[in-house]
Amino acid sequence: MSQPRKLHIKSYGCQMNVYDAQRMVDTLAGEGFVETASADDADLVILNTCHIREKASEKVYSELGRLRVAKDEAARDGRVMNIVVAGCVAQAEGHEIIRRAPVVDVVVGPQSYHHLPQLLAEAKANGRALETEFPVEDKFGFLAPPSPQAIRARGISSFVTVQEGCDKFCTFCVVPYTRGAEVSRPVAKIVDDVKRLADNGVREITLIGQNVNAYHGEGPDGRPWPLGSLLRHLAKIPGIVRLRYSTSHPRDVDDTLIEAHRDLKELMPFVHLPVQSGSDRVLAAMNRKHTADDYRRVIDRFRDARQDIAFSSDFIVGFPAEREEDFCATLALVRQIGYAGAYSFKYSPRPGTPAADMRETVSAEEMDERLVRLQELIDSQQSAFNRAAIGLTVDVLFERPARNPGQIVGRTAYLQPAHVFASPDIIGEVLPVTIESLERYSLLGTLATPLHMRPASSAHSPMTPLQTTVGA
Ligand code: 5AD
Ligand code: SF4
Repeated sequence: MSQPRKLHIKSYGCQMNVYDAQRMVDTLAGEGFVETASADDADLVILNTCHIREKASEKVYSELGRLRVAKDEAARDGRVMNIVVAGCVAQAEGHEIIRRAPVVDVVVGPQSYHHLPQLLAEAKANGRALETEFPVEDKFGFLAPPSPQAIRARGISSFVTVQEGCDKFCTFCVVPYTRGAEVSRPVAKIVDDVKRLADNGVREITLIGQNVNAYHGEGPDGRPWPLGSLLRHLAKIPGIVRLRYSTSHPRDVDDTLIEAHRDLKELMPFVHLPVQSGSDRVLAAMNRKHTADDYRRVIDRFRDARQDIAFSSDFIVGFPAEREEDFCATLALVRQIGYAGAYSFKYSPRPGTPAADMRETVSAEEMDERLVRLQELIDSQQSAFNRAAIGLTVDVLFERPARNPGQIVGRTAYLQPAHVFASPDIIGEVLPVTIESLERYSLLGTLATPLHMRPASSAHSPMTPLQTTVGA
């Protein structure tokens, strides 16, 4: 038998990219590739790029510079190292990458990962290969069932893509250009994936998509189903004890989703709901299609349905023409909502987006200063939220042995890591934990139920009411 070839993937950016990396590993496993931790001894290196953040393409070129040296060294040792650029930078700048970086063998956009084996063969025959068109008719063709080995490697918690692309066209965002129009997978295919994962020990599923609550996949009745109906259906699959979804757009929160939060104990009361700004003037310039009050009303609907619900969000500071009073409206919104955590970014122009042509830019100093003020506020809310768990008994889904010998780590409903001293037998179960202390972002506690008193099927027991991706 021939030696397995070594594959190294370096992934940047959102959850979608982490998931895509896994898909590429699955696809290439069929070609005899196994993953390796270092690029230097790899036969194939994939840069899985992200285009959302500042200087994304420069970072890719500097990484390619380093890889050129590794590729030359491999050639001196008589080895061939192939280099692939994948992800959103590949999608947006494929031709430019081929022109500027001769070291690259294949450029492949996110819709074409299932063609990677053919593209590598094409590069071998013709020197280079590029595929960044949207083959919409088989956009989800790459989602062939993952191999059993890949499923086992995924552990207790797994992502499942249900939707890709975005039709919202926020003026700062590249996603509608790099990931294309919204497409939803049919319910039956998602159910198949989730059942297979559950059969292999996965207990928690996070449904992902750039605008996941725009989901409208074909249901078993032939009609488009909203995300709430999909979640309701998935909650019935034996073995699945927790469901989550990310990332949502406030405009697409419909009643089925709110009702799912009201009714489904499996649906975790923690929602990532980006708002970007608290100022209506800035929200309009961003083409967010909602006002700050619309957002507050959406939050109220969730809270009315489920009292223990918590939120995280994304914010951009220094969007063109953001004045001090606009920024203060953002701070006021954060104070009013009270977040369990949030990501905040300095605005950075992305070529080809409408905001990149807006003239009234905010100075670097002002952006820095606003970012610090916003992050201080968010950090204080996050710490208060985490401290509030101390003394409570909360449900934890245990995932794996912790770095500290003897400890097992899991997550609360709010994705807080929680550590206990226990036997690894508890991995895969949801158990009540009395939280005793907080160390940075991690909770420490003890199992609230002695092991011999646990109900036989505690992995399926209802959650005790407690306590506490790149996209929409
Ligand atoms: N500049 C700064 N932040 C951005 N994001 C998206 N595009 C930009 C940009 N051009 C942020 C948004 C989004 C998150 C994934 O990244 O807050 O919700
Ligand atoms: Fe779509 Fe989100 Fe980008 Fe807006 S920010 S265009 S909703 S992916």
